[in-house]
Amino acid sequence: MLESVEKLKAAFEEALAKVSDSEELEKLRIAYLGKKGAVADFMKELKNMDNESKKEFGKEVNILKDAIDASIRSFGEKLDQARLDAQIRNAKKFDFTIPSDQPEGSLHPITIVQRRIEDIFKSMGFIIEDGLEIQTEYNNFEAVNIPKNHPARDMQDTYYLSNGQLLKTHTSAAQNYIMRKYGAPKKGEPPLKVLFPGRCFRNENIDACHENTFWQMEGMMIGEDISISNLIYFMKVLLSEVFERDIKVRLRPGFFPFVEPGFELDINCLICGGEGCPTCKNSGWLELLPCGMIHPNVLRMGGIDPDKYTGFAFGLGLTRLAMMKFGITDIRVLNSGNLKALKQFVD
Ligand code: DAH
Repeated sequence: MLESVEKLKAAFEEALAKVSDSEELEKLRIAYLGKKGAVADFMKELKNMDNESKKEFGKEVNILKDAIDASIRSFGEKLDQARLDAQIRNAKKFDFTIPSDQPEGSLHPITIVQRRIEDIFKSMGFIIEDGLEIQTEYNNFEAVNIPKNHPARDMQDTYYLSNGQLLKTHTSAAQNYIMRKYGAPKKGEPPLKVLFPGRCFRNENIDACHENTFWQMEGMMIGEDISISNLIYFMKVLLSEVFERDIKVRLRPGFFPFVEPGFELDINCLICGGEGCPTCKNSGWLELLPCGMIHPNVLRMGGIDPDKYTGFAFGLGLTRLAMMKFGITDIRVLNSGNLKALKQFVD
């Protein structure tokens, strides 16, 4: 009896060696392991045996059954792998050099305005810096003269992380880092001029004019005799270049804890030319650019001696500027990912 088990095993191995695809393999499986297959036939014979032989023979048949099953499985895996390899070998090769027939993407309106301003400032010797989006409370507030419990923090509620850090509420959060990175200009060196755009976050109720995620563009110039005249000059160049015409500006006093004196720089309303219209609330002026002379405390915290150096800083609402430049009336479009809307803007 045991001999016939050996024989069956040999016959199976011989048949398996001839199998060349999964269909044949399945037929072989049915022939050996199926209900009416060779192994089942052996099992039937168990009935006619005495207990001792039943035990011995049964064990051998089970071993054989497992061995056939394992061989079929592993052969099946090999066949699958070979089929995949062949598919990959025969697949149409992708040619990276063929020009795409997909329509080109477009720049986001904020990116267009951001790049334009960066180019203007680079041509005037400014370095472009990148600020982190996750900031320490110190950098976002303390280092720009907004200590704990200062009422100015109320207007800049934001998203706090569980480690105590926060999503920055304004690009001013990078001022301290930049002052420490570059330091004040040495003797004979030109003033330090840096532009640092960035995405900012505030806990706002979202509507057509408010977003919890928006862009600002901050700039600083620090040197031995930097004055308000420098500030006005650079701001006028900036606005004239962006709007591509000469822009009338006016300075009003404005309070920001990190500048002294601080200003609101308004531009002559571009919609009505200063006559008064709903956009400028009939005043003829639009509030666009808060700025001022950097507060001595802020310079000191940045490691710069306020008795020797002065500087100006400005914080431009990039989102607002892009909306004005392109006539976008709903701020929500900008973060919507709506390609139909966003693809319309070109420089
Ligand atoms: N960080 C201010 C804000 O988000 C904007 C600002 C005002 C920046 C005056 C400045 C500045 O650098 O001088 O409200």
